[in-house]
Amino acid sequence: MAVVAAVALLIGILSFTGADTDPTDASTLNVLYTSLNSPQQLTNWKPSGGDPCAESWKGITCSGSKVTEINIPGLGLNGNMGFQLDKLTSVTTFDISNNNLGNQIPYQLPPNVERLNLAGNGFNAGLPYSISLMGALKYLNLSHNQIQGQVTVQFTSLTGLTTLDFSFNSFTDNLPQSFQSLTSINDMYLQNNQFTGTLDVLALLPLQNLNVENNRFTGWIPSQLKGINVQSNGNLLNSGPAPPPPPGTPPATRPVPNPKSGGKGGSSNNGGSGSGDSKSGIGAGAIAGIVISVLVIGAIIAFFVIRKRSRKSSPDVEKLGGSQPFAPLPSQESQDIKAVQTSSTASIKAFETPAMLNLRPPPFDRHKSFDENDDSAKPIVPVKKVNTAPINSKLYTVADLQIATDSFSVENLIGEGSIGRVYRAQLDDGKVVAVKKINSSAVSNSEDFLEIVSEISRLHHPNVTELVGYCSEHGQHLLIYEFHKNGSLNEFLHVSDEFSKPLTWNTRVKIALGTARALEYLHEVCSPSVIHKNFKSANILLDIELNPHLSDCVLASLVRDPDQVASGYSAPEVAMSGQYTIKSDVYSFGVVMLELLTGRTPFDSARQRSEQSLVRWATPQLHDIDALSKMVDPALKGLYPVKSLSRFADVIALCVQPEPEFRPPMSEVVQALVRLVQRANMSKRTFGNEGAARSDSADAEEYTP
Ligand SMILES: *[C@@H]1O[C@H](CO)[C@@H](O)[C@H](O)[C@H]1NC(C)=O
Repeated sequence: MAVVAAVALLIGILSFTGADTDPTDASTLNVLYTSLNSPQQLTNWKPSGGDPCAESWKGITCSGSKVTEINIPGLGLNGNMGFQLDKLTSVTTFDISNNNLGNQIPYQLPPNVERLNLAGNGFNAGLPYSISLMGALKYLNLSHNQIQGQVTVQFTSLTGLTTLDFSFNSFTDNLPQSFQSLTSINDMYLQNNQFTGTLDVLALLPLQNLNVENNRFTGWIPSQLKGINVQSNGNLLNSGPAPPPPPGTPPATRPVPNPKSGGKGGSSNNGGSGSGDSKSGIGAGAIAGIVISVLVIGAIIAFFVIRKRSRKSSPDVEKLGGSQPFAPLPSQESQDIKAVQTSSTASIKAFETPAMLNLRPPPFDRHKSFDENDDSAKPIVPVKKVNTAPINSKLYTVADLQIATDSFSVENLIGEGSIGRVYRAQLDDGKVVAVKKINSSAVSNSEDFLEIVSEISRLHHPNVTELVGYCSEHGQHLLIYEFHKNGSLNEFLHVSDEFSKPLTWNTRVKIALGTARALEYLHEVCSPSVIHKNFKSANILLDIELNPHLSDCVLASLVRDPDQVASGYSAPEVAMSGQYTIKSDVYSFGVVMLELLTGRTPFDSARQRSEQSLVRWATPQLHDIDALSKMVDPALKGLYPVKSLSRFADVIALCVQPEPEFRPPMSEVVQALVRLVQRANMSKRTFGNEGAARSDSADAEEYTP
């Protein structure tokens, strides 16, 4: 009887849970939908609310209440994928191929995906490192995009991958050494890229099909691959017999494919990050349930059935110990992270993934050699948790800094902000830096300070001011940053004397784009996102080439009195409720763009009333070309392309909208500015004398995306 009751209950629960989608999955699809510009082709999808599983949203497959597949290829989609897909923990198939998506592939992707198809879009820039952590991956197709640079993904964990298609992109450099770990690979398509170096890392892989056509490979096709289907035209490969391998190379026959033979320290992992732990908790719950009542058993069984159906994880992966979180692998950044080497499972478990994923720089520094640091033979290098994360900046003493700043002399004072003064300093190695002396009222204790230092020290982006070191002793708290010769944008725009050259239009666009990238990095690459909260022209420092560097990241938490945060830049919702979000940063960014366009300060009490608030005065006129030409900074003396100006104004109008939800994410702002620059470059000859008498007339080439 009990069994019948349990089954009845189970059916009841199943049909109940089947009717509504997991709220996280549903809201993540809402975000995806709006990020794709809410296209009609995605029938039944909604920008908010709705029930993807029950309402049969186009391309969505569910299992129980969880979304397991997203198949939306070839629908002419544009926009971007949003930055939350990592929340879709049950998605095993994600296919958005053959659409018109562009820009960088987001870092946030479904973590347990088995089939990932992003082919046939316009993705550019590099690969997100997060792919390295997709231990469940079997099929990866990124072909026919414009992905550039070195393959910056570590394949050490991807031992279940059978198909890899990177063809028709702009990949460069040698194949990564970690390809050696692809112990299940059958099909590899690398054709039509600009890969260089030899094919040697492929020698021992269980390949059946390999296409390397139209690259710049050199050397020989490894003799071990002779029996398989290899297409290799259009390279610089030698056709003669390969020379004998140097001593110490592996045997000349390929091993029988064995998924576990890649046991290079890091190869054991599972595809079910996080869910493993909750599973064991449920196991215990089940035991208790048997004791307590049939009802509980029913619920547990139902839960298990739903979970099983939703997680079609591969048997290999299951066997390899289901409860480990994603184990991060040694990477080119591992050198930056002082970590304890250990290979024990216990410490891998203790490792907290976000600390490692956190603040990983976007794939800009392609020049860094991956090979140098290829650690595929070394054990996993875990990193401690966030709150105890080692600080990768140099520790200075107060005495050091006293010498460097001439006892914090007034002559060396270069700025004063809400949390402290900034001094120019010369370290004993001759290097000039900026030392920020934090007011004692701003820091309550050293632990808080060190946590902030740790967070700042993990920010690495060409447009974010780099932390050089810090000092915390005798109740003093100081931050040492790289020094930027040209001071802040605020000074440059508003305080310049008659002799200093005004910024040209191109430089203004370059500054806008660089700072947009800095914010994009903080918002969308860093995980969790960093909200700047105090974005203003005084926090944008300019180097000798007038490249922007965003300063004071993470420091807003030290500002006690919200009034100290520059009010002319605050979004309306911040002014009203003190609610900071990434969208309030976007607003502040729009205000800075307005400053760049008009040369005015956000609030100017010297002007007549209607013109005091820059946003209020300027925004109604942003779409009117004639009005724009009157608003534009007189210091430009009319030297600007009108089209570029009006596109710039369009971006501003989006950013300073009063409703936060309508403001674009920074990645879209970056995209819009990149397009603006590209068009300006294309039509450069038509306004060729722009900047002719200027120091920075070569700018246009400099800010290529
Ligand atoms: C990858 O996607 C492209 C574009 O849809 C397709 O032509 C190609 O066959 C796919 N590659 C594999 C290996 O499935």
